[in-house]
Amino acid sequence: MSRRKKLYEGKAKILYEGPEPGTLVQYFKDDATAFNNQKHATLEGKGVLNNRISEYIMLGLGRIGIPTHFIKRLNMREQLVRQVEIIPLEVICRNVAAGSMCKRLGLEEGQPLPRSIVEFCYKNDDLEDPLVTEEHIAAFNWASPQEMDDLMAMTLRINDYLSGLFAAVGIQLIDFKLEFGRQYEGDMVRTVLADEISPDSCRLWDIESGQKLDKDRFRRDLGNVTEAYAEVARRLGIIKPNGTAPANDTGAGTDNGEDE
Ligand code: TMP
Ligand code: ASP
Repeated sequence: MSRRKKLYEGKAKILYEGPEPGTLVQYFKDDATAFNNQKHATLEGKGVLNNRISEYIMLGLGRIGIPTHFIKRLNMREQLVRQVEIIPLEVICRNVAAGSMCKRLGLEEGQPLPRSIVEFCYKNDDLEDPLVTEEHIAAFNWASPQEMDDLMAMTLRINDYLSGLFAAVGIQLIDFKLEFGRQYEGDMVRTVLADEISPDSCRLWDIESGQKLDKDRFRRDLGNVTEAYAEVARRLGIIKPNGTAPANDTGAGTDNGEDE
């Protein structure tokens, strides 16, 4: 037995070398951080839920033609993904004013925006992921003009898909964050959706009550964080109504339970 190679450890996930060249294993931790690591906790079961929710969403996006890094879920905490070169941008899409946008522009949280707004942040923890304009992105060549067209088009399409998916289960998609990567195929390079889409990276409010079902429960000390994530999974039909056991395991390769 030899230990597999850890390539990168982030705040909520670890990337290991995959079984074949060009693949990686993405491991979902239970760690939660906020405000660039100033606040930290371990939330038991969060990684398992995010793995399942992200799998469900990536598969759905794949079906509507969005290229993603996702290949298959391996077990409770891991998925096999394609190795990509991450574009150093966080792409945020907002439908309703919340979070940093309210602080920046003096808006009231919950105010619907006149239209969906896409923002770009430069991925750099030391600088706390500052908001940047397309001018900065072009000047510093963080993404090419073609890639920017791809990011915009895919983000708006993902917003439409996710807004409908969540609305159908009584959840309003307030905003979300995406990351994209470059997948090299010979001389060609393709822009693909990477990272994860989960209640860690979205704001999700119950349509009836306005209750927050996302990471703001952790950021704002509202309690019941994993319970809220489980509620999202339950409504999407990913876990059974009465518990946390998977409703089915289809499309997920082998599910051998946790291996760490
Ligand atoms: P913000 O209002 O704090 O800028 O967050 C906008 C969206 O992006 C929200 O859905 C949470 C998500 N997000 C992340 O996924 N990672 C981050 O590091 C930050 C700051 C926000
Ligand atoms: N993920 C970020 C952090 O760790 C911030 C956030 O999601 O609020 O600090």
